[in-house]
Amino acid sequence: MSFLNELEPLKRSALSDFQAASDLAALEQTKGAWIGPHGKFTALMKQLGTLAKEEKPAAGKLINATKIELEAALAARREELELKAALPKEPTDWTLPGRRRALGKLHPLTQVTDDIVRSFRKIGFAVADGPEIEDDYHCFDALNTPADHPARDSHDTFFVSASSKLQTPSSKLPLLRTHTSSVQIRVMKSQPPPIRIIVPGRVYRRDNADATHNPTFHQIEGLYVDKGVTVGDLKGTVEFVFKELMGSDVKLRFRPHYFSYTEPSLEIDFTNALVKKLGKDWLEIAGCGMVHPQVFENVGYDPEVWTGWAFGFGIERIAMLRYGINDIRLFYENDVRFLKQF
Ligand code: DAH
Repeated sequence: MSFLNELEPLKRSALSDFQAASDLAALEQTKGAWIGPHGKFTALMKQLGTLAKEEKPAAGKLINATKIELEAALAARREELELKAALPKEPTDWTLPGRRRALGKLHPLTQVTDDIVRSFRKIGFAVADGPEIEDDYHCFDALNTPADHPARDSHDTFFVSASSKLQTPSSKLPLLRTHTSSVQIRVMKSQPPPIRIIVPGRVYRRDNADATHNPTFHQIEGLYVDKGVTVGDLKGTVEFVFKELMGSDVKLRFRPHYFSYTEPSLEIDFTNALVKKLGKDWLEIAGCGMVHPQVFENVGYDPEVWTGWAFGFGIERIAMLRYGINDIRLFYENDVRFLKQF
């Protein structure tokens, strides 16, 4: 049993080596030196076979207990060193207040859009959606604006390369939609009347950016189709929503105008205290009218049965009036000093 006398000093020596390892790599090395295949403790265990038969059980028990003790000490030291490795290298002031992540807020255009949508929902309108990459059929032709129509000049727009993967059926030219009116066609083609929808969305025009123009901006389209719909319904609806949105001192004026997809067509002018302050009597705010019978024909609705109105207005213009913003470009610069005011 001579070698068993070495057990206790060997164990103490191993434990103090484990404790002395100052990082995880050193600990792994120390572990190998003791209980690895060629470790000092392993060598001791191999001598077990040289003992007399009656000595083996007691000696085996003792060696096993020692091994378990060593492994537990290793695990404990490993945990200590892991924790040490995870701690910051620099001294840390644990009493400093935590860093708060600033909470963002909705963009003013999103806020205005949400408010408009909320008002229309109150009177039974649903929100519809359509693609921003459109084709000339939905954007113009189906809206009674054929290729040679002069009204199309002002909408000369961003055509998407015909070779692009987004290509539409051969006769249709892919383009960035110039107005949300294209969604009128998509919705009417996909469902029978009656229809009561609004369509908020982004549109694209070949405009140079200045204080009141930008090559991309947002519109809200409205479409109401049912039996016996009148201009009175249109006026009442638009007035209700604008008063909710901008306050009860709002006044609207409807002026005759021309759009190829409505007949009669009207433009809506807007005024309130802010418009007066800007030195103006009225501001043009939307286009609208009674849906042209040809548009109904184009989507397969019988114009003898169905009547309807439509409108489209710019969301930026309303947001500018609502908050007194004098440059449309501010909406797109993502300057938090501007955005956090809303
Ligand atoms: N699409 C027109 C524009 O972008 C606005 C408009 C006018 C929409 C008359 C309509 C409408 O639905 O009936 O200027």
